Amino acid sequence: MVERTSARKRARAIMSMLIRAPRAEDLEAIIALDTHITGEAKPEFWRHKLGLGGALPTGSRPLVRVAEVSGRIIGVLVGEVRSWEFHLPPTGWITVLMVDPAYRRQGIGRRLLAEALEYFREHGLRSVRTMVGWSDGDVLSFFTAMGFDRGPFIELEKSL
Ligand SMILES: CC(C)(COP(=O)(O)OP(=O)(O)OC[C@H]1O[C@@H](n2cnc3c(N)ncnc32)[C@H](O)[C@@H]1OP(=O)(O)O)[C@@H](O)C(=O)NCCC(=O)NCCS
Repeated sequence: MVERTSARKRARAIMSMLIRAPRAEDLEAIIALDTHITGEAKPEFWRHKLGLGGALPTGSRPLVRVAEVSGRIIGVLVGEVRSWEFHLPPTGWITVLMVDPAYRRQGIGRRLLAEALEYFREHGLRSVRTMVGWSDGDVLSFFTAMGFDRGPFIELEKSL
């Protein structure tokens, strides 16, 4: 019963969800969400991505979008345009995408991704890439469902 009530509350919350650019005052909430999901707090990383305290030229700022429900940040996306790395023409990259576990499978990841795809299209890009761990089944399933397929590159790694 309690479970059904909270599911109903969440469904209502999703209807009132807002996708928007982050504000400086969202920093702590974003760090907290990331820490909750990945188990690691990365304040400097997020300060940098949000363009706080550092002088990032406008053109090199990443696209950051947050999903908000009732004043609470429940999802974050970071998208970046990278040009001529690995000989690739300007390409969109999804470098962070995460949704609060309590709000998954309700279309929030899809809506955050749609914002990035629209932004990349508006900037004339022809493709978008991301990297997913082979063992990260949920994330792989999400991107596969969103039309992503295996790309033409292989990632090489060496232990140091
Ligand atoms: C990947 C992730 C962002 C998906 O967010 P989400 O809001 O749950 O995704 P959506 O509800 O928009 O899913 C859209 C579709 O993707 C597929 N999908 C999403 N999650 C899935 C899962 N766990 N298993 C299978 N398919 C899945 C489904 O087809 C789904 O549509 P459906 O629910 O109608 O069947 C979320 O699972 C997440 O945050 N995972 C952790 C990511 C992480 O660790 N990030 C840190 C490093 S970047």
